[in-house]
Amino acid sequence: MTSQIKKICCIGAGYVGGPTMAVLADRCKDIKVTLVDIDKKRINAWNDKDLSKLPVFEPGLKEIIKRNRNKNLFFSTDIANTIKEADMIFISVNTPTKTSGFGAGYASDLKWVESSARQVAEYSSGHTIVVEKSTVPVRTAELIQNILSESEENSFISNIKKSFSVLSSPEFLAEGTAINDLENPDRVLIGGEDNNAMRSLSGIYERWIPANKILFTNVWSSELSKLTANAFLAQRLSSINAISALCEATGAEIKEVSNAIGADKRIGKKFLDAGPGFGGSCFQKDILNLVYLCQYYGLEKISRYWEHVLIVNNWQKERIASLVVEKLFGTVTNKKIAMFGFAFKANTNDTRESPSISIAKDLLENGANLMINDPQVLPYQIEKELCKKESKIFSEKEGSWSFNSNLNECVKDADALIILTAWDEYKEINFEKFSKLMRKPSWVFDTRKIISKNSLKGTGIKFWQVGMGECSSL
Ligand code: NAD
Ligand code: UGA
Repeated sequence: MTSQIKKICCIGAGYVGGPTMAVLADRCKDIKVTLVDIDKKRINAWNDKDLSKLPVFEPGLKEIIKRNRNKNLFFSTDIANTIKEADMIFISVNTPTKTSGFGAGYASDLKWVESSARQVAEYSSGHTIVVEKSTVPVRTAELIQNILSESEENSFISNIKKSFSVLSSPEFLAEGTAINDLENPDRVLIGGEDNNAMRSLSGIYERWIPANKILFTNVWSSELSKLTANAFLAQRLSSINAISALCEATGAEIKEVSNAIGADKRIGKKFLDAGPGFGGSCFQKDILNLVYLCQYYGLEKISRYWEHVLIVNNWQKERIASLVVEKLFGTVTNKKIAMFGFAFKANTNDTRESPSISIAKDLLENGANLMINDPQVLPYQIEKELCKKESKIFSEKEGSWSFNSNLNECVKDADALIILTAWDEYKEINFEKFSKLMRKPSWVFDTRKIISKNSLKGTGIKFWQVGMGECSSL
């Protein structure tokens, strides 16, 4: 018999938990949805009356929070009671790459998944469906199941009845388009063995997602499909970025090449934009995880195959930083460089693994003074990523950075402008004005292909674009 779900708890109120549960609550007004987190500051931010202070910036999210918060959508630090009340619990906690111990640098750190499972084991009551939403290595559901089984046995002895069904339902949303991805997903995956639990979960999704988009698999296929989807997407980006370098060397143009190959339906048009290298909290970590899994199962050559996707990605970031230095007469020491964009992509305030980080670090190491702009990222986030305090003091050896929300002030007296995130506001720059503000010879490096070379015509600014190289006919 499928259980009727009345109360849902989501452990982890981050970039996935927040938007996912907001959409779920919006579509299922009869279900009470509560997000819990150990991070009190984050929960306070989700509850802030000022919606511009929500911890996650995502187009359309504010409106959904406004409609549902404190009606059937709640944010709380009361983990114990929320778990106790819930019929269904989503585990949506972070699973970053391990930084120490066995598998450091490759394997996913599952300590937050484990602690979530222990919380569920301790506080739950009655029958609870536990849904693994975090991206995890194959067979993690087994870890969760083992912890919960112990608790089932103990509950039998102590007469407080507890039972569990564990499902895998990985999330495929992309930041910046999360709301649309959640409202109209290409597919939803449900992996499990307990048909009733699977039907209870699909019953929730079916309130707004056509049933034919809900795929049922076994748990391990579901877990591996998530890693594989991210690996394929990242591989496509490393492929197009590799070809962008070849375009620059040969005179071919990457946009023309990607249009030509994308017209083949088997290849498809999407995800073919060359750039400064992919960022985001997941592609790198999930491929490292896949590499680790292949090594664990003795598939050495396969692990090296996937690792190369990351090698090419790091190379793309490095080559862009070194190209900037080379074009500026081989040195950026004490030169002012404007960097437009610090988020890993447009329409998010997330900076995790942003290509801007390693490019900024390389330029700082070469003594540059960076003036950074981003419409959504705050200076404290940049400080955290660069491990270097914001400072206006120009130091010759290690360079410095500061943040400026005014684009004109960023480029004043700058030798170069590097565009690193495709924010709309950067697409409408008046280069005639910029050319008067910048020091000559001035350069614009467009790593996102958002600037048309016509907009620079007659300005005297030198122009380089990814997949096209230096443009000589300005
Ligand atoms: P996040 O770091 O933004 O959020 C995770 C939250 O979990 C944090 O706020 C943390 O404090 C909380 N947490 C950790 N342990 C806890 C515990 N025991 N009890 C309560 N709260 C706890 O991470 P995210 O970006 O939301 O990613 C979550 C998972 O989803 C990861 O596995 C990630 O790979 C996967 N994923 C992320 C995205 C994305 O776009 N960010 C997309 C698909 C899948
Ligand atoms: C990615 C996947 O697209 C999601 O399906 C997945 O759920 C998610 O990872 C995850 O597991 O976390 P996300 O990282 O949020 O989503 O964003 P993407 O749109 O995939 O972009 C990733 C990076 O690739 C960004 O730095 C972006 O600028 C870059 N990119 C993307 C390009 O350089 N070119 C493109 O054509 C597309």
